[in-house]
Amino acid sequence: MLNLGILISGRGSNMESILKSIKREKIPIKPAVVISNKPDAVGLKIAEKLGINIEIIESKGFKGTRWQYDKKVIATLTKYGVTPRNGLVCLAGFMRIISPEFVKKYKNRILNIHPALLPAFPGLDSQKQALDYGSKYSGCTVHFVDTGMDTGPIIIQSVVKIKENDTEESLSKRILKEEHRIYSKAVDLFARKKIKVSGRRTVIS
Ligand code: GRF
Repeated sequence: MLNLGILISGRGSNMESILKSIKREKIPIKPAVVISNKPDAVGLKIAEKLGINIEIIESKGFKGTRWQYDKKVIATLTKYGVTPRNGLVCLAGFMRIISPEFVKKYKNRILNIHPALLPAFPGLDSQKQALDYGSKYSGCTVHFVDTGMDTGPIIIQSVVKIKENDTEESLSKRILKEEHRIYSKAVDLFARKKIKVSGRRTVIS
């Protein structure tokens, strides 16, 4: 069985939805550990309630390089069996850029969720970016993590129509609902080995 590690920094609603889906849909992957770079992340409490191991690797005040921090993360993932051979890492609101070394070690084994239809509006505040731009549609994207910023091969996207009276809050809420749906779906596809990567494209069988 594959082992899953989830990296969070805050609310953890995507993490919660993935963990609940694994149980409900009997996704063949073992939730092994949730790691937060912030000790006060609300998601840690949720993970604990759901009975999953939690670990804190505080990034604030960490003096080393990005790779030195990531080595600590990798050591923790490894402790729980989330290895480059037998693991899947999900970034779920993890507010750190991960190092190229980490990406290379876990090639095509790290997923991320982004609240826009990539390649539109990468980076932060994507829902606000879409509203400010005057887009009529936005949505969310699950993709493999590569060494760029929100640039890896796309696995699933979901489109959300933008309403004339939408605020950042109302749009974010509708997008979040779709995030929960497609992120769990992507974990399911990965666990069932249904995703093949071919260059920039993924092929779902
Ligand atoms: C989500 O909107 C996700 O797309 C983005 O950060 C937010 C995390 O929310 N990367 P949560 O912690 O999963 O509730």
